[in-house]
Amino acid sequence: MSAAEIPVSEWKRKDLLGLEELSAEEIILILETADSFREVLERPIKKVPALRGKTIANLFFEPSTRTQVSFDLAAKRLNADTASVAARSSSLLKGETLLDTALNIEAMKVDAVVVRHGSAGVPHLLAKNLSASVINAGDGCHEHPTQALLDIFTMRQRFGSLAGLRVAILGDIAHSRVARSNIWGLTKLGARVTVVGPPTLIPPGIEEMGVDLSYDVDEVLARVDVVNVLRIQRERQEGNLLPSLREYRMLYGLTLERMARVPENLVVMHPGPVNRGVELDPAVADGPWSVILDQVTNGVAVRMAVLFLLMGEQTREGMRVSGEVL
Ligand code: CP
Repeated sequence: MSAAEIPVSEWKRKDLLGLEELSAEEIILILETADSFREVLERPIKKVPALRGKTIANLFFEPSTRTQVSFDLAAKRLNADTASVAARSSSLLKGETLLDTALNIEAMKVDAVVVRHGSAGVPHLLAKNLSASVINAGDGCHEHPTQALLDIFTMRQRFGSLAGLRVAILGDIAHSRVARSNIWGLTKLGARVTVVGPPTLIPPGIEEMGVDLSYDVDEVLARVDVVNVLRIQRERQEGNLLPSLREYRMLYGLTLERMARVPENLVVMHPGPVNRGVELDPAVADGPWSVILDQVTNGVAVRMAVLFLLMGEQTREGMRVSGEVL
């Protein structure tokens, strides 16, 4: 069955925890739903009443700019109410457990919780214990499903289809929840994925996820349509996995010199935040190859789609985003 044949009303999931658990049809349904919301974002009044009366809490226990603001805007543009909890100002500092914090938030009649945490599995723990929907906004090195969905949405916007698209994921694969979610999503949709980076930053057995592996960035860049460049995650690295950032830039960074040798139409993506001058030279991040800010814009539409599918009226009527505007 193609995604177009799945009625929105058949979306049965309470939570979005990762792309590993989604079928290709479910991923396409999210992308197609996001198409409609992407159009809403171009209107003078960027708001529809799809989640009127619902309340969404953002629980971010790790720093975030893009994901937190994007979820907040997505909720507001669907007319939901929002509340935010940050670890540094919460009662976690007084000894309250994470689960107690979440249960207390839910007791305030919250319908969905968006959670980011440094430990893998926290969203799954909350999903088991809450009646509210739980959305993973990044858990440790495990998954960042909405980032991968917005990355895939941006590739689909550019190329039409993911089938046969050649995508490289470059950099710190070992510590990257973005890489893991991208690999699950892209391979399910038929893209051909190559991971490339220093041997110390690529986990053993990665090929079992259905990807090719290379340590030669120039060879890979010569034969792909898209390169998704990952941030060097200094905060998650234990030990000396890199000799120096200067050497990393020379061997794996997208420098202007390296970009002079790649195919003209190569698309450069990055989930952000960018370490300018390390994995991406500023002239590349801001250059004609880059779709980084398109990714950010698309992220709002993708998160609107996820919130809507998890919590909305879940009917095509509810999808009539051209309807009443509050
Ligand atoms: N891509 C991403 O997750 O960015 P933030 O850490 O700013 O949310």
